[in-house]
Amino acid sequence: MATLAVDQVTYEDLYSRWEHGNWSATELDLSVDREQWRDTFSEIQRKGALWTYSMFFHGEDSVADNLSPYIDAAPREEQKYFLATQQVDEARHAVLFARFMREVVGIGGDTGSALDATRPELSWGFRQVFLRLDRMADELRKDRSLPKLAQAITLYHLIVEAVLAQPGQHLIEESLSKRGLLPGFRKGMHNVSKDEQRHIAFGVKLIADLVRQDPECRTAIEELLREVFPFTAAVFVPPDWDERYVSAFGFTLEQIYTYGAESMEARFRAAGLEPETMRVGMPFDLPPEERARRGLAMLRAGYLGAPNGPVKSDPEVTQILFDGLVRQIDASVAPGTTIQWDFRDAEPWHVRIDRASAQAEPGRVEHPDLTFHCRFADWLDLTSGRTEPWRATLTGRIRPTGKLRMLVRAPKLFG
Ligand SMILES: [Fe+2]
Ligand SMILES: [Fe+2]
Repeated sequence: MATLAVDQVTYEDLYSRWEHGNWSATELDLSVDREQWRDTFSEIQRKGALWTYSMFFHGEDSVADNLSPYIDAAPREEQKYFLATQQVDEARHAVLFARFMREVVGIGGDTGSALDATRPELSWGFRQVFLRLDRMADELRKDRSLPKLAQAITLYHLIVEAVLAQPGQHLIEESLSKRGLLPGFRKGMHNVSKDEQRHIAFGVKLIADLVRQDPECRTAIEELLREVFPFTAAVFVPPDWDERYVSAFGFTLEQIYTYGAESMEARFRAAGLEPETMRVGMPFDLPPEERARRGLAMLRAGYLGAPNGPVKSDPEVTQILFDGLVRQIDASVAPGTTIQWDFRDAEPWHVRIDRASAQAEPGRVEHPDLTFHCRFADWLDLTSGRTEPWRATLTGRIRPTGKLRMLVRAPKLFG
């Protein structure tokens, strides 16, 4: 078994770090925070902060509620004990955000009603990711196999904690301390960040162990990532694309997305997943800034993200779309074949698959083995996760034609 840096840290080490890192969410003094929220914050800063912190509030609540089946499914006692400490942490984080909403923002009532009151703040991407986490917890209750656990940890510890939460926490802490804002809450956030680092370290270690124990875990992780990447990308899209929600605190969407892309790559690498070799549609051979740029270009053009109105095809963004698609193709399923996209309302595209890889180009190919007939927007609904493949084909919005063996293999080809 190949050794990794994560092997230097034991599950017991992580548990004892938890004992040493205990802190109180109920004793933090939020009185200065309340005054600043009212007197120092501008209108757009209040909007931006409420938007971001509402997603954290709901996120912490969801991860606290959904961790139990993970404790049942973890194979070793030391892993179960650590996960039990993590569940306490997540509850404490939710308590901090509930206090912030009640005492600083002035959203009244108990935690349940504060969650209800802040629900309209949640972005489309956020809702999809956390609906998936709810479903994942249910799946794990029924299926405690190692590949299912690997998927569940990938979604919780890598996607939600390392890719979404950590960059957010880092930027919140940095921007608040630069401006001397929200001293009580900031102290709490600092403790939350330290807890999250421990949780992520545990997740990375467990994934590294699972993947080395059972090679099917890797395939299961890739499958999950292909499914959730489109949603993950859409989490930080501000309401009505009003970028002042983030610029009011001194940073850009490009910075947030780059930070997330870096965090993702570093954790995949630490878990021994060798991201360049993963069949997930993500160009890990390119720098994180470029991955962030491509993701934002797809979001801004409406190729990814919330369904909101007609999408106009844009050649540069379509290039990015098909580049992601060919990275996702398993060439070994159908080597030496061609696929045509026959869009009713946009330029056609095709893909040639050779023995080891695939290439996409605009235009037509002669005698394709498989052809998809559809509107451009219907194809985007499929790739962005706005609709499921079975629904798109059953309703006739996407009509595949071609050789029978290709029609049968299509789902395996794209994963
Ligand atoms: Fe948390
Ligand atoms: Fe956490």
